[in-house]
Amino acid sequence: MTYQFEYGTVSNPEDAQQLGVIINQCFNDPSPSSWQTYSQDIVGLENFRIVCQAGKIIGGLAILHMGQWYGCECVPMAGIAAVGIAPEHRGTGAVFELLKLTLKELYARGVPLSTLYAATQRPYRKVGYEQAGICCSWEILTNSIQLSDRTLPMQPVIPICQETFYNLYHQKAKVTNGHLDRNHSIWKLVVEPRKESEDIFYAYLIGTESQPEGYIIFTQKREENSNLIYIRDWAVLTAAAARRFWTFLADHRSMVKKIRWRSSTVDPLMLLLPEQTNNIRFSEHWMLRVIDVSQALAKRGYPLGIETELHLEVFDDLLPENNGKFVLSVAQGRGEVTKGGRGELQLDVCGLAPLYTGLFTPHQLKFAGKLEAKATALLAATQIFADLLPWMPDHF
Ligand SMILES: CC(C)(COP(=O)(O)OP(=O)(O)OC[C@H]1O[C@@H](n2cnc3c(N)ncnc32)[C@H](O)[C@@H]1OP(=O)(O)O)[C@@H](O)C(=O)NCCC(=O)NCCS
Repeated sequence: MTYQFEYGTVSNPEDAQQLGVIINQCFNDPSPSSWQTYSQDIVGLENFRIVCQAGKIIGGLAILHMGQWYGCECVPMAGIAAVGIAPEHRGTGAVFELLKLTLKELYARGVPLSTLYAATQRPYRKVGYEQAGICCSWEILTNSIQLSDRTLPMQPVIPICQETFYNLYHQKAKVTNGHLDRNHSIWKLVVEPRKESEDIFYAYLIGTESQPEGYIIFTQKREENSNLIYIRDWAVLTAAAARRFWTFLADHRSMVKKIRWRSSTVDPLMLLLPEQTNNIRFSEHWMLRVIDVSQALAKRGYPLGIETELHLEVFDDLLPENNGKFVLSVAQGRGEVTKGGRGELQLDVCGLAPLYTGLFTPHQLKFAGKLEAKATALLAATQIFADLLPWMPDHF
């Protein structure tokens, strides 16, 4: 059986209300006020896309316009969130249509990348997304931190506003592949409790007010009869700030049993700990879709000191403009892309995602059957894309 769908935007309050009912049911959040906050204050109604059948809304998604850092360059990126199809319309191809037309629209608007967190990978792989980076939640018992270095002061920040932290975050994000160039809505989630929540946010600069070397923003929660600190955001730019960061957290040990924070699976911050008492609570791979191959390759940065060429051949069922051979010439940290060449490394657009971000090495991707390549092309790709593991602390 084939179904007919229409794709569009939310054009009136009735559409917004209908979409809200579906998204609330999909994500098990029955509160109309949280939909209102999410749709109006965080995403903006103009950034939702809907899929309809016979004029009736049956699903939708949210687009968050941001950037993502790769090789010290910020590449425009559309974050996709709140993908939901009404249960009675699932299995009909509606989600495929919705994602396909969203990606075509983003291509037409010149957005080279899209990133999302997937509750299930299959619908996203079908439209070209693949695992591309890490978001890992860590936990440690506060009394096992055992660091004591109070050389740097801790400055409480009141009121908490994004401007205070923006520069410090920016310095960290620029050198961390996968970090977001956060838009206003992601910053809002970082620095403000949701309207309906009773959380209190605490924030401190690490170091002097004129020369901060890091920051920490956290809430305190009660769980299973003990208190824990949940770090909402952090940046640590120097070794002194890292020692102060751990000391500050350890100073909560009389009342706070555990600390939770987000990081990569491998993080030098944890090298400062005396023992390996830190545990991963969960680790998730976010997915990325290269929407425009030429633009994506040209806009990211590359390791300095490498001068080489990679001859690629890309296959993309959804966006025909991405099909074909490309030459990526890398020099002085930048890449130039031209059509043509020998196509010595072949992959479909799904395989390109973890290669692009550096989540997996070209050898690992070959092993997983995600690419085919001559030995020389594999070596060039390894030089170009082997970098720090991509990760981000933000969940959207
Ligand atoms: C996720 C969701 C949008 C998918 O829509 P859908 O109409 O159910 O998807 P389809 O039936 O067209 O499935 C597309 C593919 O994904 C697979 N799939 C769908 N849901 C799946 C699940 N929960 N687990 C594993 N695979 C799943 C289907 O089998 C199909 O793969 P196939 O074509 O290879 O058989 C929908 O189930 C939904 O709204 N769920 C609740 C909200 C949610 O989880 N959103 C995702 C947040 S990232």
